[in-house]
Amino acid sequence: MTHEIAVIPGDGIGQEVTPAAVDVLESLELGFEFVEGEAGDAVREETGEALPQETYDLAASTDATLFGAAGDSAADVILPLREAVDSFVNVRPAKAYPGIDAVRPETDLVFLRENTEGVYAGHEDRLSEDVSTLTRVVTESASERLAEFACDYVSGTEHDGFTIAHKANVMRETDGLFRDTVKSVAEDNGIETDEVLMDAFATHVCLDPEQFDVVVCPNLAGDVLSDLAAGLVGGLGLLPSANIGPDRALFEPVHGTAPDIAGDGLANPAAKIISAAMLLEYLGYDEEADAVTEAVESTLAEGPHTPDLGGDASTEDVTEAVIDRL
Ligand code: NAI
Ligand code: MG
Repeated sequence: MTHEIAVIPGDGIGQEVTPAAVDVLESLELGFEFVEGEAGDAVREETGEALPQETYDLAASTDATLFGAAGDSAADVILPLREAVDSFVNVRPAKAYPGIDAVRPETDLVFLRENTEGVYAGHEDRLSEDVSTLTRVVTESASERLAEFACDYVSGTEHDGFTIAHKANVMRETDGLFRDTVKSVAEDNGIETDEVLMDAFATHVCLDPEQFDVVVCPNLAGDVLSDLAAGLVGGLGLLPSANIGPDRALFEPVHGTAPDIAGDGLANPAAKIISAAMLLEYLGYDEEADAVTEAVESTLAEGPHTPDLGGDASTEDVTEAVIDRL
């Protein structure tokens, strides 16, 4: 059975790292059919729309999507794309790889971030010149869906339950509902949990990341805390992510368009290539997923490295080095 994969590079270094991931997947000769879609600042300038309907439809109909990044229009692209795949969880591993000069080399975390609501539900208002408001949405159903995924994610693995990061001491209704729902689903599934206040987590994870493993959190907390973890492991060029829905999924690096280096061919493709390995695993190609992950890991350990990791190699050099190891 061949799989149709949507490829949406977007803007900036999205245009550089996405083809790198496609090259790696093509080198495996799995017979995937890649279909390209446009999104982001460039297509908005041309057509007035950051996410053309046909790109949305492509993501909503293919088995999986590889997305790069979008610039100023990011919110108008990635939020609807996550909706197109009905993604309720964003899986964000943050791992320090051997050979990389990480602030905390012992870091090995996975964030399971709620992906549909919280402060990103889109209910913002400008009441007057000097007053703006935001409505934070937390539902039992979205919290349940996330918790069930988290239970599946850890059961039968080396992961010993998961940690719930929240701020229910202040946001009693919203994060209270989130925490109670996630906890109760975990209890029903016989999964152990502990909990931590999200601000305290930020300190603890910097001082001693080893005490955490799988972290389940609301949308904004997951966004911010996983970027913080990127700082612990050697930068944004290393963090992949998967937006999982019931029938399809979208894979993207955590980073953005990196305007400071875009166009130079020097972007680190590791985050995007590991995202492609997550796509392989999602589609059931476990062996190939492991092979790609190991090829990236040994490239990170032995080089070549792009400038963000202290080297002078190009995106293409690193991509070729990964493909050579496959
Ligand atoms: P960014 O992730 O684009 O860049 C932050 C810093 O990390 C920059 O110094 C950049 O050079 C570096 N960096 C990021 N990825 C790298 C890679 N693969 N290799 C080497 N260095 C890398 O975040 P920033 O600067 O906050 O945002 C830039 C643009 O990206 C904005 O327009 C923002 O809206 C957009 N953005 C889009 C996202 C998406 O489409 N999902 C996510 C985050 C930001
Ligand atoms: Mg972010």
